[in-house]
Amino acid sequence: MDLKSFIRDIPDFPKPGIIFKDVTPLLKNPEAFKGSIAELKKAASEWNFDIIVAPEARGFIFAAPLALEMNKGFVPIRKPGKLPYKTISKSYSLEYGNATLEMHIDAIEKGSRVLILDDVLATGGTIKAIAEMIEEAGGEVVGIITIIELSFLEPRKKLDKYRVEALIKY
Ligand code: PRP
Repeated sequence: MDLKSFIRDIPDFPKPGIIFKDVTPLLKNPEAFKGSIAELKKAASEWNFDIIVAPEARGFIFAAPLALEMNKGFVPIRKPGKLPYKTISKSYSLEYGNATLEMHIDAIEKGSRVLILDDVLATGGTIKAIAEMIEEAGGEVVGIITIIELSFLEPRKKLDKYRVEALIKY
């Protein structure tokens, strides 16, 4: 399936000079949405993992159906102040600003094998922060999968010690 044809460019969002990759047309089309989950499953099936970790907001949309489809658990990574229990947090720089993410302190069991999933891999800052939190908790990052990779931002430079798969590359 040509998933790329369901991704829309939004120039100057959220800031001038940024071309935002909008996945809402893909989500609105049931065949494209199903197709994206099927392709994520195919990529993820190559790896032996216990749990899927993904950040809000758009990471959740893809991670939840994939977790159900693959009979795995799901761990949410959230923006500050949203998770109810004790958290660990990590600050990082984004393509368009700075951000902090949080994870529940007991979300990852020591030795568990983790797949990180998100919609877009841009600078790689988000995924790197998540990987660091997983490792601090004693988990092992077995791989990273995203729907979209903005290769021109060279996110893999930050993630060179991990296996990274992306369904669509720009
Ligand atoms: C976007 C995207 C990724 C992240 C990628 O999320 O969904 O999570 O940026 O950027 P990076 O590789 O440069 O770190 P955003 O921060 O816009 O959050 P949202 O999904 O809650 O809108």
